[in-house]
Amino acid sequence: MVSFKEIGLVNTREMFKKAVDGGYAIPAFNFNNMEQLQAIVQAAAETKSPVILQVSKGARNYANSTLLRYMAEGAVAYAKELGWENPQIVLHLDHGDSFELCKDCVDMGFSSVMIDASSLPYEDNIALTKKVVEYAHKYDVTVEAELGVLAGVEDEVSSAESHYTKPEEVIDFATRTGCDSLAISIGTSHGAYKFTPDQCTRDPKTGRLVPPPLAFDVLHEIENKLPGFPIVLHGSSSVPQEYVDMCNKYGGNLPNAIGIPEEQLREAAKSAVCKINIDSDSRLAMTGAIRKYLAENPSHFDPRQYLKPAREEMKKMYIHKIVNVLGSNGKA
Ligand code: G3H
Ligand code: 13P
Ligand code: ZN
Repeated sequence: MVSFKEIGLVNTREMFKKAVDGGYAIPAFNFNNMEQLQAIVQAAAETKSPVILQVSKGARNYANSTLLRYMAEGAVAYAKELGWENPQIVLHLDHGDSFELCKDCVDMGFSSVMIDASSLPYEDNIALTKKVVEYAHKYDVTVEAELGVLAGVEDEVSSAESHYTKPEEVIDFATRTGCDSLAISIGTSHGAYKFTPDQCTRDPKTGRLVPPPLAFDVLHEIENKLPGFPIVLHGSSSVPQEYVDMCNKYGGNLPNAIGIPEEQLREAAKSAVCKINIDSDSRLAMTGAIRKYLAENPSHFDPRQYLKPAREEMKKMYIHKIVNVLGSNGKA
């Protein structure tokens, strides 16, 4: 059993309270590899932004759970080395799908876990979430739960359409589970294809797809029911057109990829939404930069040559999110 406190991590409790009160949101960036982690830590250290390092079940399978946990421990030391005196770094399990997985993460030093039982019937979601909360809170580990279903694919849980969170359920759910934050469904979804072209309109000037707005009315109803309670938005990549174009120009094929417009995320960050999850934008930045580099330098084969510009592109993107979208710079 390792406590997250021994390895210099923090849980989300204080961080979320400050973010809700201050009208900004904490970035939750997924990572699977060293270059993503370096870019995240550099971006957070340079902007003095609290940051949540997210590890999915898929990331654990890809990279090895022990390695990822030590990488997060290393991230704290690296952040200090970069001159960030008091790094505010959370290690979070993203979309935990069982009690055993959440327990394993608590036991190995995670400071926060998500139990995503949103695909289960309401009472079963409550029972499983409560069980995880009871265990995690013994070690001061904070717990994110989810109510409502996002469209698209949630790890192995797939749902063709989104079912918005029902505001009339949130008080009962939060009270009975004791969860520390709640992920809600208001129209975001995972991946780089958040809307089909027929759900969008077209900008007459650029010809680009314009997605429908998020359900801010549902968000505001939830905020009214649970004043000050930390709300989480999954599926919040913006799918920047420049990265989609970069991928497509250099051999990729990502037709009609589309995300959440940044102005809507900016608006959400000012509300009780205090954690915004971004994974796909990092994948697009990395892949776009690698495709470009390899197309322009066909004789190069040292991975450091193409991973360096990929890391720089991700860092630029993370800093942009922190400073221009979430407003978490200078808060740690
Ligand atoms: O919500 C899903 C995250 O983007 C993680 O994706 O399960 O492919 O690692 P993954
Ligand atoms: P994106 O696919 O929009 O980056 O969402 C990531 C996410 O919600 C991770 O849990
Ligand atoms: Zn998610």
